[in-house]
Amino acid sequence: MTIQKETHKDMLGEQNIADLLLTWYDKTKRDLPWRKAKDPYAIWVSEVMLQQTQVKTVIPYYERFLQRFPGVRELGEASLDDVLTVWQGLGYYSRARRMWEGAHYILAQLTGKMPNSFDELLKVPGIGKYTAGAVASIAYGQKVSAIDGNVLRVISRLLAWTEPVESINSYRHFDQHIAAWQPSLRPGDFNQGLMELGATVCTPTKPNCEGCPLVQICLGYKQGGDLRDYPVKKIKVQRQEVTRLTFVLRRGDKVYLQKRPSDGLLADLWEFPGVEFLQGIQLCEPLSMFTYLEWFQLFQDAVSDRSFDRNVQDLIAQGFELQGPLWYNFSHRRWKIIWITFDLSEAYVDHGKLRLAQTLNPRSEGELFKEGKETYLELKEHLPNQSRCWISLNDLGEIPLPIAFRGILDKLYNTKIP
Ligand code: ADE
Repeated sequence: MTIQKETHKDMLGEQNIADLLLTWYDKTKRDLPWRKAKDPYAIWVSEVMLQQTQVKTVIPYYERFLQRFPGVRELGEASLDDVLTVWQGLGYYSRARRMWEGAHYILAQLTGKMPNSFDELLKVPGIGKYTAGAVASIAYGQKVSAIDGNVLRVISRLLAWTEPVESINSYRHFDQHIAAWQPSLRPGDFNQGLMELGATVCTPTKPNCEGCPLVQICLGYKQGGDLRDYPVKKIKVQRQEVTRLTFVLRRGDKVYLQKRPSDGLLADLWEFPGVEFLQGIQLCEPLSMFTYLEWFQLFQDAVSDRSFDRNVQDLIAQGFELQGPLWYNFSHRRWKIIWITFDLSEAYVDHGKLRLAQTLNPRSEGELFKEGKETYLELKEHLPNQSRCWISLNDLGEIPLPIAFRGILDKLYNTKIP
């Protein structure tokens, strides 16, 4: 890291990146409507729109938006529906909602006056470092960076930066370089120059190094490698997507859990039993995916307690709903959790089945207990070597249940206990 920095300093010599960049920017910059503006609100609007959308798409939206909402007050006093309607077609609607919320904050906290510095802009909900930096440098001439994807690419090539650019270290490093290069006189134009260079010259797949004002000081270019290798990105783990069909059995305030094997994924943790599929499963019309018998077979594969088979057969025959999905990432696997809740509160458990359960799980020390007219097996959750249990929702905090199932629990807590 240090070597990269020093080499680059040496190479820069007397050259001044700001001069090179600004001279080029003044000559070649595109004539874009927000570049005529010094109004921080208008710049805010443009920067938010430009975050995930190309310049040529943004232009008409920007103009329409400013006509309809010429200032923070008009934006904050409009209904969200109105704002979304004007935004319609631009995509990523959360951007519009966040701006609208930001305008509310400015109306309520700052009597409608745009915050006048980077730090104050950062306090507005929805305004992050990039937007605050762009608005503060362009509208207020404040010497702060505005590092978007284009700028990341330009700087990582300029420095031949081999660390993943998403890291905090990379961000800090780039920010320090920009601080050193950025002129006090035109910090906003300098930022926009970097953005412009990334958008028009130092592009992701066809960098035009011959047309680049910074080519003589570009380490990536000097090193002669493939500039398309920059920016270096974190290697994304390819996770295999697995559908995890999960059975939630419930009786009153109790749910049924099984213990996972002592090796492999989530070893020794408790779980709602289930089976995994490599192919996706649609959530609609479960009975058109598998036959009634196949569903029952899946239940038997997943749930080791045979006490409720008859009831579950009946419930499957009556039709059931598949709930979910919830997503959970392991290092190399991604679970798409879908689940079926079988309410067994009314279940009658016959004693033959009960005996079978005890035989299958002889060390579980289950105890028979009476509840109303029926008798069934309750397995005490804290006994060692036990592989399944019925446990009250209130006691779930005491048992190691992977957070993968938290979403199911949330649903259960919200469902009234009969
Ligand atoms: N992308 C993001 N901000 C921009 C700006 N101010 N000019 C051009 N492209 C941009």
